[in-house]
Amino acid sequence: MAAVENVTSEAVIDTDLNKEEDTSSLQKTDGHGAVVAAHYNALEEKGLSERNKSRIVHLRNFNNWIKSMLINEYMDAIKNSRGVGMAIKVLDMCCGKGGDLLKWRNANISHLICADIAETSVDQCRTRFQDMRQRQQRDRHSNAFTAEFIVADCTKARLREQYKDVTLQLDLVSCQFSFHYCFESLPQTECMLRNAAECLRPGGYFIGTIPDANDIVARFRNAGSTSFGNPVYKIEFEKPEEPFPLFGAKYGFSLVDVVNCPEFLVHIPTLERLARKHGLELVSKSRFEEYYEKNKEKGRGLLGRMQALETYPQFEGQTQSGEDEEYTHAKEFLNKYKVNRVGTLSKPEWEAVSLYMVFAFRKMKAVSMDSEGRPVYDAPEPKSTSETADNSLKRQNDSSEEANPKRIKSDDTT
Ligand SMILES: C[S@@+](CC[C@H](N)C(=O)[O-])C[C@H]1O[C@@H](n2cnc3c(N)ncnc32)[C@H](O)[C@@H]1O
Repeated sequence: MAAVENVTSEAVIDTDLNKEEDTSSLQKTDGHGAVVAAHYNALEEKGLSERNKSRIVHLRNFNNWIKSMLINEYMDAIKNSRGVGMAIKVLDMCCGKGGDLLKWRNANISHLICADIAETSVDQCRTRFQDMRQRQQRDRHSNAFTAEFIVADCTKARLREQYKDVTLQLDLVSCQFSFHYCFESLPQTECMLRNAAECLRPGGYFIGTIPDANDIVARFRNAGSTSFGNPVYKIEFEKPEEPFPLFGAKYGFSLVDVVNCPEFLVHIPTLERLARKHGLELVSKSRFEEYYEKNKEKGRGLLGRMQALETYPQFEGQTQSGEDEEYTHAKEFLNKYKVNRVGTLSKPEWEAVSLYMVFAFRKMKAVSMDSEGRPVYDAPEPKSTSETADNSLKRQNDSSEEANPKRIKSDDTT
């Protein structure tokens, strides 16, 4: 583990980051991968009506809305650059049970590779895909695509070796709510980035959603305790020693009904630097609340259809997700704007969703090869990556912005 206290200069981290990644010695089941796989394998597949009864149904719908908007944004960019009608190939890295299959169908892709460490989840994903295909054939629905399924630890195995067509070029790699697992160690992060980058065509995108480490650190400081959260989520640091290490900064994350797993802080400047080594240039990053603000007009119809916000007050016969005191912001909004209803999330749910951020990298074009035949990418270093590693981490650890989760800006969707 590269403890930050030991990182004294940029040269030190340069040496580390430029090492040829050798992931062959990593056992498939060591580290936290086995724990994570066991956790997700044991998660029950709940039907729609069960999911609709969950305390966090709107949080989950909201997260799905963010993913849909992100996928659509970059699918549009790909279609614009490649031309409509071209075959679009996608890797869903850490696909889970296939929660994004309908998004891929709606995006009109031609081929999908689904990979995940949890075998049971991959089986469920395959079954969902087959059911979807059958329904499509029965209803003579177009938008049919082919798919392949891989059980693998994406932080330790080279996915390309398991593709049916090893020469395949991807247009998009999507890694939703999962990339942070690789920040357990440098070799695992290198491996995951290589999986994301090596088959992407130049101009293709690597997109995803991760917890925002700056926000987590700020909330941790604000709480003044090793654990913090609310009735919906909880974060607990085992060794909350600041400054946190670049890799392996572990915390336990639990989300009611869904997750209870070890996760790792993602140090964004380090991610940016490593990604460039793999030819990935950061083109966008924003916290969920910013992404929501930017996209809410465009995605208003989808917000409604996906029930990504809860109507407050509820219509008769509906059940409110949280306690009444968790909607004071919504009440204030109703009073201020003299409206009868508002689309919102309970405060604990908003505090949980606003922990996250979206990112997008674009694959650069290699301009030459180095003496060992590795591609060299020619693009200027971004400002943040020319800082010394210790300075940039210090900045993250010092960040006091977003010390308090922002309240939801209520949105009148009714
Ligand atoms: C929160 S779920 C997200 C699933 C899916 N991407 C979604 O958005 O619905 C995290 C997923 O990451 C997978 N995962 C965690 N670590 C992994 C690893 N090292 N390699 C592959 N998959 C991993 C888990 O099995 C789980 O399915």
